Amino acid sequence: MKKIVVETLVLEYVKRYRIPARYEGRNVGHVYVYIIGDPARTGGKACYAYVDDLLVDESVREKGGGRKLMEALLRVAKSEHCYKVIANCHRRRRAARALYSSMGFAPHGREFRLDLLEQPRIPQGRAPGMNGCE
Ligand SMILES: CC(C)(COP(=O)(O)OP(=O)(O)OC[C@H]1O[C@@H](n2cnc3c(N)ncnc32)[C@H](O)[C@@H]1OP(=O)(O)O)[C@@H](O)C(=O)NCCC(=O)NCCS
Repeated sequence: MKKIVVETLVLEYVKRYRIPARYEGRNVGHVYVYIIGDPARTGGKACYAYVDDLLVDESVREKGGGRKLMEALLRVAKSEHCYKVIANCHRRRRAARALYSSMGFAPHGREFRLDLLEQPRIPQGRAPGMNGCE
């Protein structure tokens, strides 16, 4: 019987931006956005944006920082000609869910997750900035 064979190719069509927020001279938050080529559309030439790690320091929450970060993110997504923006959000994160809804995001599909390690681990030799913790 003939077998289906799979192979793994590295495709460099992910770009990442970090958008920091500052208040009175200190860093008080950030959001990351990944611009990802979409293989389902035009063989990866069309792209979408993926929101990651939206965070505002507790000391300055509810002052409009989260919204400003997301507005900046949308500007990036539009300038990159993304056709959609995806944000995963646990149902317990009520503030984030309210923020996304107020900006026009709608629930879509359902996230599946498989944990591979109990704790995240940074592989040896990984360049600074690769892990999103800078
Ligand atoms: C989500 C988060 C980034 C919002 O930041 P923020 O600076 O406090 O948000 P803003 O002041 O810009 O508020 C924007 C909107 O968020 C919603 N919101 C903010 N705080 C809220 C709260 N405590 N309860 C309900 N809705 C809230 C509101 O819709 C608000 O709009 P409004 O001011 O017109 O009512 C912040 O709460 C946070 O860092 N939370 C922990 C990390 C997190 O959950 N990240 C998202 C991962 S999916």
